[in-house]
Amino acid sequence: MNKIKLYNKEFILYINHNKIQESVKNISNNIYNFYKNETPIFIGVLSGVIMFMSDLLKYYPGNCEVSFIKLNSYRGIRSSKKVVKDIKININIINRHVVILEDIIDTGNTLEVLLNIIKNKPLKSLKIVSLFFKPGVFKKKISIDIIGINLSNKFVIGYGLDYNGLGRNFRDLYQLKS
Ligand code: IMP
Ligand code: MG
Repeated sequence: MNKIKLYNKEFILYINHNKIQESVKNISNNIYNFYKNETPIFIGVLSGVIMFMSDLLKYYPGNCEVSFIKLNSYRGIRSSKKVVKDIKININIINRHVVILEDIIDTGNTLEVLLNIIKNKPLKSLKIVSLFFKPGVFKKKISIDIIGINLSNKFVIGYGLDYNGLGRNFRDLYQLKS
């Protein structure tokens, strides 16, 4: 499919599934090369992370644990400063190697809130990993350890990402048609 219509908006194919898989494999290898025989905890930021996390775990050859947090900031096609925590981390991360998995980092507001939630917890290590990144929109002075694919500023859907709840199920990434 080259085009998708969600509500009144049109999206065009931007990054295909194979390219995404290549990037996910590389990310998985990078993480594994760092942790090798350790057992990191992967914390996925729901809901956008579902596809990325599921694929990344399938490529990850080492031991790991899996948990989630649910944060919400997007309304329609714009990010909002108000980030709502819907589900909190349900696993003890103290003195553990923690890997935060994000589908996409846009303004960085969500990431900042997440780091504030865990900042007082003593961890063995912390890595921030995002499959997609919009360098032209990011506004924070936070360093991201691993980035898969840099995107232009345009709104995207597919591979877990949604527009008002729709579009998460598509295997490729689509960009809003301007
Ligand atoms: P931020 O707080 O602006 O960095 O946005 C973070 C969250 O908003 C991401 O984890 C996504 O869930 C969502 N998001 C950001 N950009 C997009 C996009 O282009 N399409 C769909 N969701 C997005
Ligand atoms: Mg997200």
